[in-house]
Amino acid sequence: MNITRRSFLAAGAAMPLLGLTRPSLADEGTLRQVATDRKLIYGTAVSTGTLAKDKPFAQLVIDQANMLVAEGETKRKAIEPKQGRLNFAPTERLLAFAEKNGQRMRGHTLLWHEANPDWLLAKLEEGRDDKLLTDYIEKTVGHFKGRMHSWDVINEVIHIDEGGEEDLRISSPWYKAFGSGYIETAFQVAHAADPDALLFYNEINLEADVWWAEQRRTSVLKLLEKLLKKGIPVHALGIQSHLKAYRLDYTDEVMSRFLDEVSDLGLKILITEFDIADVEGPADPAQRDADIAALGRRYLDVAFSKPAVLGCLTWGISDRYSWLSSYDSYKWSDGSLSRGLPFDGDLRPKKLYFEMLNSYRSAS
Ligand code: XIL
Repeated sequence: MNITRRSFLAAGAAMPLLGLTRPSLADEGTLRQVATDRKLIYGTAVSTGTLAKDKPFAQLVIDQANMLVAEGETKRKAIEPKQGRLNFAPTERLLAFAEKNGQRMRGHTLLWHEANPDWLLAKLEEGRDDKLLTDYIEKTVGHFKGRMHSWDVINEVIHIDEGGEEDLRISSPWYKAFGSGYIETAFQVAHAADPDALLFYNEINLEADVWWAEQRRTSVLKLLEKLLKKGIPVHALGIQSHLKAYRLDYTDEVMSRFLDEVSDLGLKILITEFDIADVEGPADPAQRDADIAALGRRYLDVAFSKPAVLGCLTWGISDRYSWLSSYDSYKWSDGSLSRGLPFDGDLRPKKLYFEMLNSYRSAS
């Protein structure tokens, strides 16, 4: 309690005291408390660098999150920059931070078409060598056995524009080297290395009410069905949830139906990378904050009405460190911070934070 109050006061130090119009964090509770009380996950992506250099930020992460995931340090490029020399140190540091603070951690991501070291891309182009796929998964999952809540085994494997079988991303170096079978192998090897870890298929761009997202949802469901029919140990779908408030339509019904279809397969669901891009929104930041909070509330209310949904991780927690401010397609051209996360650049809670609390409170 003390910690929560102290860090709230620190975070709010820049706010004129008399200008406080919202209830304080100390009164409202934290996402960590509210989520944990309901046996739900609330977590955030972090990096060792920001946790080490920014103490108020680190305290916010401790106060608010019951789960952490590395934004980049558990990707293959970071762990195996040179072939065969696995560097688990950054992930270990994060895990030590999480364990010290009573938080769980998830691993992101064993396989992706991005964030691969150059040596690996070159070897994959030379052709099929199963060890390039299996050794890494065996060693990495094995190294953290019993300490990771879950692993994103595969990430972003559907790409409908490429015209490949089952809408798979055929431009992926993994697909090119191994064909679609790499997906099954990856889950089997990961499961053997840590039978207790929840194994995820994590996917992007599944949320919008637009034709191409509908096609993506259909392809994801078909892939999951196929894997399950074959007895492949896939346990959950990670829905990244990088929403775009002013670019893509969203309707509750569409999301609700998709969540039901996934849970009907017997799978768990986690919102894994929630944030809401505000680019192209109105010039007034207060208006954008209100729009984003309303959209976030609707989105999470639908998610938390489903028993299969385990919770939500945001991709960062404060606008101070958000990929939305640097990624070309989301950033503001005038350099202003994107406002897609629950806390602003001064670590003050925004409307989205309070609406997220409300959504967690309404969880069934
Ligand atoms: C992003 C990170 O946030 C960036 O810092 C990095 O440069 C690129 O990757 N989907 C994912 C995440 O699965 O790993 C991505 O993270 C965001 C989109």
